Amino acid sequence: MTKDEFETLLIRGAFDVDPTVGALTPPIYQTVTYKQFELGVEQKFDYSRSANPTRAVLERRFALLEEGKFGFAFASGMAAITSLIYLFGSGDEILVPSDLYGGTLRVLDAQFKNFGVTWRIADTTDIPSLERAFSPNTKAIILETPTNPILRVSDIAEVSRVAHAHGAIVITDNTFLTPYFQRPLTFGADIVVHSATKYIGGHNDALAGLVVVSDEELAERILMIQKSIGGVLSPFDSYLLLRGLKTLALRMDRETASALAIAKHLSQHSGVDRVYYPGLESDPGYELNSRQASGAGGLLSFDLGEKYDIKKFVSSLEFFTLAESLGSVESMACHPATMSHASLSPEIRASMGISDRLIRLAVGLEGLPSLINDLDRAFEAAK
Ligand SMILES: Cc1ncc(COP(=O)(O)O)c(C=O)c1O
Repeated sequence: MTKDEFETLLIRGAFDVDPTVGALTPPIYQTVTYKQFELGVEQKFDYSRSANPTRAVLERRFALLEEGKFGFAFASGMAAITSLIYLFGSGDEILVPSDLYGGTLRVLDAQFKNFGVTWRIADTTDIPSLERAFSPNTKAIILETPTNPILRVSDIAEVSRVAHAHGAIVITDNTFLTPYFQRPLTFGADIVVHSATKYIGGHNDALAGLVVVSDEELAERILMIQKSIGGVLSPFDSYLLLRGLKTLALRMDRETASALAIAKHLSQHSGVDRVYYPGLESDPGYELNSRQASGAGGLLSFDLGEKYDIKKFVSSLEFFTLAESLGSVESMACHPATMSHASLSPEIRASMGISDRLIRLAVGLEGLPSLINDLDRAFEAAK
């Protein structure tokens, strides 16, 4: 799909006008149930846990954007991921990268272990080592590329090839790059999942999850799980996501351009030991990311130099708000060692490459000079 086609789908995909009154904006169908017009005749909409017209527009539009066939909207990214793990049963094993999103690891470890679904860490950035990690029980790999907060890049096509050769499926969490930059299904992944709370909604006002697949049988199973468990997205939040999607391309372009400028600025700063951003030519993930994605996104991390006080640094930031999320119009900073990854031991964090001096930035839409000045002021204050 070309950039032009994608940008048109963001605005026009899967919805022309509402047939009842000609509304250009998909109406919020704030209804639970629907009149049954004829006894025994199945209708598209009968109860909103199964299907809702506002959610259906979002699900169809998002499936088109990921170049898949079937979309599913959930009440959060975790509701989406949890629903997907219900595809597996006792005795099944899932491989995950060491720096998988902590919430996904928690639901695997704290909840699904009780049902006999096990997980194991595998290096998805190293194909020969990944190949050796498979066991006869391995049924899936959960992939994130790039990962967060170290921004490691994995080869989606190679991981999919290896997984399929072992009879396993690939679930790719595409939260960080979104289908605007990267479409995992086109590289052979079987399922795409999102915390749509982040870039898809884009405005820090709705929790949401999205799933897309192309395989009809998989879609039927996910549909059954979605309506059985019921972690569905509300009509109002579906509307908010459709609204956020309209500016996805504009936001991603601007946030990525600012992130690259900030990454370059930090790379030249004497107060920074290392920058992690696959949009920098010097980054180990640059070449692979450029092959499978058309942009590197708005997330970057860096190690603050030893002579700077990290507490003073983060508390001096004005426009990079210290907060857990990312992907919104507001820029945010995160200190993984005390925030997103605080529950892990220092040894495990170190093995994941997360030092106590690592800071992750999620670049928003504020003016670039304001953001760069904000960082420079924090360096001064933390000296
Ligand atoms: C990569 C990734 N996947 C899933 C989730 C969970 O999404 P949510 O917070 O919408 O439940 C997050 C949340 O930060 C995330 O970063």
